[in-house]
Amino acid sequence: MAVNNIDIGDVLATAHDDAHATPNHSIARMREEQGALSPIDCERKRLIHREESVRQQSDAFRGIRTRLLEMGGDSNFITLVCSVSPRSGGSFVARNLATAFAFDESKTSLLIDANLRYPNQHKALGVEPTTGGLVDFLEHPSRGIASIMYQTGVPRLRMIPAGKARENSSEYFSSFRMRAVLDSLRCRYTDRYLFLDGPPVKGAPDARILSDLADFVVLVAGYGRDTPAAINQAVANFDPAKLAGVVFNESP
Ligand SMILES: Nc1ncnc2c1ncn2[C@@H]1O[C@H](COP(=O)(O)OP(=O)(O)OP(=O)(O)O)[C@@H](O)[C@H]1O
Ligand SMILES: [Mg+2]
Repeated sequence: MAVNNIDIGDVLATAHDDAHATPNHSIARMREEQGALSPIDCERKRLIHREESVRQQSDAFRGIRTRLLEMGGDSNFITLVCSVSPRSGGSFVARNLATAFAFDESKTSLLIDANLRYPNQHKALGVEPTTGGLVDFLEHPSRGIASIMYQTGVPRLRMIPAGKARENSSEYFSSFRMRAVLDSLRCRYTDRYLFLDGPPVKGAPDARILSDLADFVVLVAGYGRDTPAAINQAVANFDPAKLAGVVFNESP
């Protein structure tokens, strides 16, 4: 099976210059109540920013963004990001890809932590999920979706934490309610791009189940960690038409 390789250290910059995009109506309504993170804060959170010091990484994420936008055509979409095996960097890539979309002033992005067993995106972003997360909303939808959407300190990037840790995540992901929530989040604003930070493919059916809810899948392989056989096995879980590529991530 053909795999489109995106080497995270090796994707070229695109011609887009985010700073010149025109904000549109729904973005104008998005109020940033919290100050933007400084480059040093971003680096502590393993987040790309606009300064030269992380240029190579931010260009790599912009390259993946370009590829997804080419696949997505004119409409916004849902991207599932998951790693081949635990700790390969799936959450790192999901967080930074969502940030790369938010760099573009004509877009907003929403990062959803869909690793219900071992959620960590709220910790990585320093968000205190005081009013709950995805699981809490799925169990008590009357609370309203707004209560589980948090600012991140990155302009135009919001996040939904996983909420209470749960073992039976596949039941949540295959529920009608989960699909309805994602549909309504995607349809509410045409400039909003959704990113699901999924669990590793190895060992559980969750990533495959989540991929049914996504338009595209980005698979993250740990460079020098995941073998070609393990990567191919992971790839085989997904609809080839949805697979945007494999990112080879080398964590320090
Ligand atoms: N390219 C990278 N540069 C810097 N730090 C990285 C990189 N890749 C991963 N990390 C760090 O390594 C740790 C593990 O990465 P991450 O949590 O993204 O992996 P994961 O595949 O999502 O793991 P899990 O199986 O827990 O979901 C995190 O602290 C993350 O910030
Ligand atoms: Mg993760």
